[in-house]
Amino acid sequence: MTTSSYAKINLGLKVLGERPDGFHDIISVFHEVDLADEITLSPSVCGTIGVSSSSPYAPDGPENLAYKAADVLRRSVNRPELGVDISILKRVPAGGGLGGGSSNAGLIIRTLNRIWNLGLPNDRLIDLAASIGSDVPFFVHGGCALVTGRGETIQPVDSTEDPVIVLVDPGFAVSTPWAFGKLSMELTRSSPYIRFLNSVRTSGKVDLLDLFCLLENDFLPLVGARYPSVQRILSLICEAGALGASMSGTGATLYGGFARASDAQEATDRLEDQGYTAHLCKPVRRLSRNVQ
Ligand code: C5P
Repeated sequence: MTTSSYAKINLGLKVLGERPDGFHDIISVFHEVDLADEITLSPSVCGTIGVSSSSPYAPDGPENLAYKAADVLRRSVNRPELGVDISILKRVPAGGGLGGGSSNAGLIIRTLNRIWNLGLPNDRLIDLAASIGSDVPFFVHGGCALVTGRGETIQPVDSTEDPVIVLVDPGFAVSTPWAFGKLSMELTRSSPYIRFLNSVRTSGKVDLLDLFCLLENDFLPLVGARYPSVQRILSLICEAGALGASMSGTGATLYGGFARASDAQEATDRLEDQGYTAHLCKPVRRLSRNVQ
């Protein structure tokens, strides 16, 4: 079977504090978007997990998060005879804060639980996902979710409205451990964005057009201070008529949300004229994606 493994963007990201385990507590809205890898899974009972990827940047074999996902799942049920061949057509750029590898891992946990007939409950799948990486639990759900803790506390929410999103590769990568390590610890626990997310928590709904007007990402000042192109790209997106613009995760992918497709297209054209790679995409909702 072949299925789409969608990228995510963080619609805002606040760091609430450091945890005893060395990670950080965050609050963010994660939303899948329709930029996706294609994953083909061929299950077997030969006990072998094989991973091959079309990208030279993604490792084949045990180092790949897809391998780890399949392995952690079969170990959790003590079924070493389970096997699968995983073939990944990579379209989501690596290392850009779009969760490409984490998405592959979350999709594999969810899908192999079904096709290997394991019947593990969702909270067990989330625990296994968290053992692979902080962004993986979100992808066990997908769609749109309010995400807290270190990334393992997921509240699925219904998103409304359908903005066009322009993703921009600014031409550099940001290391996640570097970004968390450099973050100034003058952390805010209250802001318009956090108050808005508290209302999302209560209602279980988020209007994406409203959210785009309130985005805050704690890593943006840090990354923007190091790379002057960040401010240039965000200004260009806003001048083209975006409701709001920000960065996904710890970077480096930048994005804007547009109510009008023509404005989004104009932003894309202007960014490409300046030599940047830009993708037009749309939010993906849990019920509309092609998972069985
Ligand atoms: O879990 P993941 O492998 O994505 O995390 C990479 C690094 O990012 C961690 O080792 C940690 O330094 C940092 N991190 C953090 N708090 C989080 C997520 C990641 O400090 N909530």
